[in-house]
Amino acid sequence: MARKIVVTSGKGGVGKTTVSCNLAVHLAERGKRVIVCDLDFGLNNVDVVLGIEHLAVYDITDAVEGRCRPRQALIKHPRYPTLFALASNRVSERYVSPQAVRLILDSLSPSFDYIVIDSPAGIEEGFHRAAACASEAILVTTPHLSAMRDADRVAGLLKSYRFDRVGLLVNQTRKDLVRKGEVLSPDEIAKALSLPLYASIPEEDKFFLDNISPKSRAYRALSEFVIDLPFREKKRKSV
Ligand SMILES: Nc1ncnc2c1ncn2[C@@H]1O[C@H](COP(=O)(O)OP(=O)(O)OP(=O)(O)O)[C@@H](O)[C@H]1O
Ligand SMILES: [Mg+2]
Repeated sequence: MARKIVVTSGKGGVGKTTVSCNLAVHLAERGKRVIVCDLDFGLNNVDVVLGIEHLAVYDITDAVEGRCRPRQALIKHPRYPTLFALASNRVSERYVSPQAVRLILDSLSPSFDYIVIDSPAGIEEGFHRAAACASEAILVTTPHLSAMRDADRVAGLLKSYRFDRVGLLVNQTRKDLVRKGEVLSPDEIAKALSLPLYASIPEEDKFFLDNISPKSRAYRALSEFVIDLPFREKKRKSV
């Protein structure tokens, strides 16, 4: 069964889609079978960021409403043979229940190692739909005060879901600003939000291809950290 990881945030534009896609690419590079599921309805960012929007035939609503089988709705990435995307519906007005999405993901789960779920920002219906489908969460924030404040609200909400694990990713970090004391360090942010720090991703001037950084050391470390988490927990329990 796949580990289903929702990537969420309070504030918009902090990097959820970038993180979801890069995590998925790096997991696939490590041989894992991965789906990136775009639950940011109406925007379709995941297939654009992965550069495969021209390959999309079906989207998640087609699967939910029975126009295709769940497997048919997956877009296979041409460069990463074990990476697939599930596009969000293009028409945001259509109501899709969390249960319906969960059923689709559950039916795909046995054939995959990871389902990375890109969530919309905020704490409305879309957030709950995405969270309801997941077994783990990664909360993304930037070091900016407004993003951290919103992350704090989401961290509280995440507690009401029975996730196997929840971690923090601090995106767009800048060592120079930490050194000058202008922003908190990733460790300090994690402490303030009472969450384990999974990774910090430096602010980049330029992405390699769209928003994908296949050579990024930070994303490589994140993917290895995520793969390792259950083993580390088991080891801790047996000590
Ligand atoms: N580490 C980074 N360094 C520099 N720019 C970044 C970084 N991560 C993301 N960005 C940029 O920030 C912008 C927002 O990223 P992204 O779309 O992933 O955020 P999001 O949280 O998914 O937004 P939304 O809430 O609208 O869905 C993009 O232009 C992306 O290229
Ligand atoms: Mg997004």
